[in-house]
Amino acid sequence: KPRVFSGIQPTSDSFHLGNYLGAVRQWVAMQDTTDALYCVVDQHAITVDHDPKVLHQRSRVSAAQLLALGLDPERCTLFVQSQVPEHAMLSWILGSETGFGEASRMTQFKDKSAKQERTTVGLFTYPILMAADILLYRTDQVPVGEDQRQHLELTRDLAIRFNGTYGETFTVPEPYIVKETATIKDLSEPEKKMSKSSSGPRGCLYLLDEPNQMRKKIKGAVTDSEAEVRFDPERKPGVSNLMNIYTALAGTTTEKLEAEYAGRGYGDFKGDLAEVVADTLGPIALRTKEILADKAELDRILTLGAEKARHLAVRTIAKTYKKIGFYPPV
Ligand code: TYM
Repeated sequence: KPRVFSGIQPTSDSFHLGNYLGAVRQWVAMQDTTDALYCVVDQHAITVDHDPKVLHQRSRVSAAQLLALGLDPERCTLFVQSQVPEHAMLSWILGSETGFGEASRMTQFKDKSAKQERTTVGLFTYPILMAADILLYRTDQVPVGEDQRQHLELTRDLAIRFNGTYGETFTVPEPYIVKETATIKDLSEPEKKMSKSSSGPRGCLYLLDEPNQMRKKIKGAVTDSEAEVRFDPERKPGVSNLMNIYTALAGTTTEKLEAEYAGRGYGDFKGDLAEVVADTLGPIALRTKEILADKAELDRILTLGAEKARHLAVRTIAKTYKKIGFYPPV
């Protein structure tokens, strides 16, 4: 079975529709066909402003949401990054193999640092920690959204270079990006990707929103002045985004949607999509709450996950330490 690894940051109280359709939905689907590890990356989350209590709570809520969305600890390894110290150990080594110019080219760093009052070195080296996450587990495939593609390129470059310099050590991973949902757009500004920091709460559909709130956001989504449900991401980004969301959640196709809503305008289309969204994602909040209620069980799942992950991680560290000329960890 191919090895799969992916991560998600616990930087808000709820994941959004872009996280789900761009990444987590694939994570759930890949559980049976691959050997999958999924990680709540709290060490990435401290690279921007954070509050320790809030961070800890968000890591728990993030893990609970992932379980509510369909990750099954019997079929995948779910863990929190800070419980496996080998991530930071490998990150240090990879950082010493990364060119300053190479790291400076990361566009997400440029975007994020422009928005921060104070930019940390951690935000700059963030993609190197991400490379460590992936390379630690001899990962074949990394299911992510489009915005992570450049980080995956860096990861591949680092793996190839390290192998070339020190001898075969790392598996070179492939990104796994589903075209239709690679970038879910903001509902109020469909030129931008959906994110919690883009246009404000109306454009970002949170998985823990109340069903009525979800319906309102879909019905209020920005479209265009025509009244034709037609797939054309260039000229009709708003409608095309809604069609992508519809197709992914209801298992239909854009052609079928065009036929179904021909001559009917946007009202019907948005109304039906609002129901699809509320039906499929509405129950997530309650399930998350139930999972959070049993704190001991959630902690048990995460500890077990971290133990399983660590078992693999120590082997890669042992090998890498040897290659680089370090003393072995005691
Ligand atoms: P993060 O936490 O920002 O996002 C988690 C996942 O959601 C995807 N995503 C989207 N997909 C489609 N449309 C959108 N609007 C959208 N917004 C977010 C992201 O592409 C991502 O797959 N650096 C990563 C976390 C990470 C990681 C890793 C991922 C750390 N280590 C190792 C893979 C492998 C991040 O910040 O994701």
